[in-house]
Amino acid sequence: MYLQKEDGKLAFYINEDDALDCQLIINDLRTKVFGKLLQNDMTFFDKNRVGEIVSRLSSDALVVGQAVSTNLSDGLRSLVTIFGSAGLMVYTSPALCAPVTVVIPIIVGTFYVFGKIQRKFTVQMQEAVAGANNVATERLSNMKTVRILVAEKRELEAYKEKIHAIWEICRKEGVFKGIMFGSFQLTGYLAITSVLFYGTTLISRGLLTYGELSSFCLYSALCVGGLSSLSMFYNELMKGLGASQRLFQLAAEKPTIPLHGGIKLSDVARDIRFEGVAFNYVGRDAMFNDVSFKIPAGKITAIVGPSGSGKSTVAQLLLRLYNPTQGRILVGDHDLRELDPSHWRRMIGTVPQEPVLFSASIWDNIVYGAEDPKAITKEQVLRAAEQSNSLEFINSFPEGFDTLVGESGHSMLSGGQKQRIAIARALITDPKLLIMDEATSALDATSEYLVRKALNALLEHNNKTVVIIAHRLSTIKHADQIVVLDKGCVAELGNYDELMSIPDGVFHKLVEKQAIGWQDNF
Ligand SMILES: Nc1ncnc2c1ncn2[C@@H]1O[C@H](COP(=O)(O)OP(=O)(O)O)[C@@H](O)[C@H]1O
Ligand SMILES: [Mg+2]
Repeated sequence: MYLQKEDGKLAFYINEDDALDCQLIINDLRTKVFGKLLQNDMTFFDKNRVGEIVSRLSSDALVVGQAVSTNLSDGLRSLVTIFGSAGLMVYTSPALCAPVTVVIPIIVGTFYVFGKIQRKFTVQMQEAVAGANNVATERLSNMKTVRILVAEKRELEAYKEKIHAIWEICRKEGVFKGIMFGSFQLTGYLAITSVLFYGTTLISRGLLTYGELSSFCLYSALCVGGLSSLSMFYNELMKGLGASQRLFQLAAEKPTIPLHGGIKLSDVARDIRFEGVAFNYVGRDAMFNDVSFKIPAGKITAIVGPSGSGKSTVAQLLLRLYNPTQGRILVGDHDLRELDPSHWRRMIGTVPQEPVLFSASIWDNIVYGAEDPKAITKEQVLRAAEQSNSLEFINSFPEGFDTLVGESGHSMLSGGQKQRIAIARALITDPKLLIMDEATSALDATSEYLVRKALNALLEHNNKTVVIIAHRLSTIKHADQIVVLDKGCVAELGNYDELMSIPDGVFHKLVEKQAIGWQDNF
């Protein structure tokens, strides 16, 4: 890695061993913590904000790395100086050591108290930095919303406030450090003064020579110098400990849902059943109390319900992003908890409600979900693009599949185009279970029709199970079964005609209320 740097930098790193060690330690720390973070479950990411996590990874890891590498040798050096000069002091005049011993508990006590305070300051400081980074990350990644709502000035004020908090802590820390280092030096010099004073009385009584006194003073000055650099080292160490606190806490979180481990089903063409499932997000009221229904293998199941009724949550439970708090989800005869989570997720093609494309080419975005993206053939990509009705618009770009897309700076796609790429991504591995969360919501009527037609064709020729969360009548009408969620349970279940025949039914009302938007044009 360092070899790739330009000549000047390389020379710098080779000369500066400490800097190199420090950087390696920081790299190692960051990689390990990031690796741990990637294993955390969704509850962790619901609790912790990305801006804060990134700040911990960058700023906290830097402080910890600097503390443990750069200063370790300094600390050892000062310890050797202190003990060496103290030994010489005792050797020169044990009698003169008496006033010095009085100072030792003061110094040790001060070290302890100041160390604790420094740690507290660092914790506060890193917290403030994380707060500021969080505001910056969140706002800058949603710049469009900030611009539309003309909130630039307000955001600047919010950021300024956070930055001001950092400065406040810096100021307090500066004053504290001044007092700390000042009092160390003061104690040291007081000790030397008392040594001089006591020494002259010893000389006048003939118990000490001038030579011994001057040697003793020289050694004590050395000792004070050692103490002063030890205090700086100690201070850095405490800073490191303070900064590591939250970083290690983040890394130590144990996911309740592991990434791996469990049965790897070779085929998922089995009925899936929700049995008495209860669920609530952490810190929220119960969303499901007792949800039971079956998703028959090879059939289309539509999930409908008012907004906020938990449709997307059903999809997330199916993907085992969360565990039900009660009840169970069965895949064939197996409880979902018995299955290897990553293997299970890989068997499922998912189009989330708000698909995210990464800053990469369209091609890379489509093959992203495959276990080995390089093994995906051109035919597979073309087929997925065709099935999701995105081939035409991709080909209309000058760079076709190589067009860079993503969140920023690159060619922007419309919501419908993004959604179609996400559908292609879900189809690329030819999954046996397909979950589409309002996947057609951003498509215009024509594209939706084409996507649905493609999906129907897929279903006819494959043994696919499809769970479709939809609000368009056109999609729901063709489902084999409709699950209506309302008020934490399954309110109704049946096909379109059956549900429409319930006069005051939830489904009936839903259709009536949204009659215009739900027109089926085909
Ligand atoms: N990660 C989360 N943490 C806490 N509450 C959430 C989370 N995701 C969704 N919710 C809440 O759960 C409820 C149902 O959400 P959702 O399943 O997305 O509903 P739907 O898809 O039917 O509109 C909403 O009230 C929402 O605020
Ligand atoms: Mg939803």
